[in-house]
Amino acid sequence: MTTLVERLQRRESTSAKHLTDPGPTDDELAEVLRAAVAVPEHGAIRPWRFLVLREPGQRRLSEVFVADLLSQNPDAPEEEIAKRREGPVRAPLLLVVAASPRVHPKVPEVEQVVSAGLCAYVIQACFHDMGYGAVWVTGKPAYSDRVKAALGLEPADHIVGFVHVGTRGPEAGARPKTRPDPDGFVTEWTGADG
Ligand SMILES: Cc1cc2nc3c(=O)[nH]c(=O)nc-3n(C[C@H](O)[C@H](O)[C@H](O)COP(=O)(O)O)c2cc1C
Repeated sequence: MTTLVERLQRRESTSAKHLTDPGPTDDELAEVLRAAVAVPEHGAIRPWRFLVLREPGQRRLSEVFVADLLSQNPDAPEEEIAKRREGPVRAPLLLVVAASPRVHPKVPEVEQVVSAGLCAYVIQACFHDMGYGAVWVTGKPAYSDRVKAALGLEPADHIVGFVHVGTRGPEAGARPKTRPDPDGFVTEWTGADG
């Protein structure tokens, strides 16, 4: 039996292009979302929003992504349009993870967005742990008011990520990724001068 620490050390993403059917069941998704809402969160604001898209929601979002691109660049090249269209339909399941921050005297917006980011991490990590592949992405549509509106979000909301989930296809990498040495990011701070 591996520990949670060991499993988190081995967590990794699977590129959306390597995610195939079948996607997780509704019960598996419900389990993962129960883990997501167990993230640390300040002030009992619960600013998280999870939108679950399977077909046909993914197809509709594709059209929203394309309309968003064309509204900014009516002459966008065909490859760019195709890339936008493919974005939401790459894997059997797409979760939009968003924060709907509230003005709160003690909890700045950044803390609420961070908490939603933790949800995205937990969702990605849990699906990996269950044997699925998953990846957290953003891109320009995540910052578009038009996309937010189509998803029923307000301009002040933040899409912290799109999490694609599916079964890892044969082309998905088999070897665990090399991770950096944490010592490169660590300094012991003692407060002593010098
Ligand atoms: C907020 C956020 C946004 C991201 N957006 C993208 C993205 O748009 N495209 C992408 O390829 N990776 C994106 N990534 C990185 C992937 O989720 C993933 O971490 C990266 O491919 C490294 O793989 P690993 O998780 O196995 O280390 C994003 C990560 C974060 C935290």
